[in-house]
Amino acid sequence: MKHVILIGFMGTGKTTVGEALARQLGCTQADLDDCIVEQAGRSIPDLFETEGEAGFRLRETQVLRDMVQRVEHQVITTGGGVVTQPRNIEIMQESGIVVALFARPETIVERVSGDANRPLLAGDVETRVRKLLHERDGLYDFAPVRIQTDGKTVQEVVDAIIEHPA
Ligand code: S3P
Repeated sequence: MKHVILIGFMGTGKTTVGEALARQLGCTQADLDDCIVEQAGRSIPDLFETEGEAGFRLRETQVLRDMVQRVEHQVITTGGGVVTQPRNIEIMQESGIVVALFARPETIVERVSGDANRPLLAGDVETRVRKLLHERDGLYDFAPVRIQTDGKTVQEVVDAIIEHPA
């Protein structure tokens, strides 16, 4: 089995689905943001504040590269902006099966509201979500497995991933 790499906009359920998927596949799950935080010894808001988004993206690519080289096959969950760097897309395509999760803007806004851990959504969350969704339109579509999560339980999303022919 190659790595299974979950991508998707913030609030599409990558982490929750990734954990359930890993349990079902009997492998471990590793989260790119968690690894960045662990390696830097600082939180994501702190990294954005001190190094800017550009600094965060450099770290993201370095840590992603390290993660995919692990011998053990894992479910890897990523941050929503991983697709903004073409190099990251290449790394993911070369090292695993990429699964994209999608959700309606209303669902995303509901899920991410009140979460202070996402610096890109500071201010009016709904405006920020809609603007970023627009900027990232199409960027998740390269994934061979694409799942719309609205109205589905976590288990239904996991089943849809496992049953997918890709
Ligand atoms: C980001 C998404 C976040 C995190 C960072 C930037 C983005 O991860 O990587 O705040 O650019 O969409 P989640 O998608 O897990 O919230």
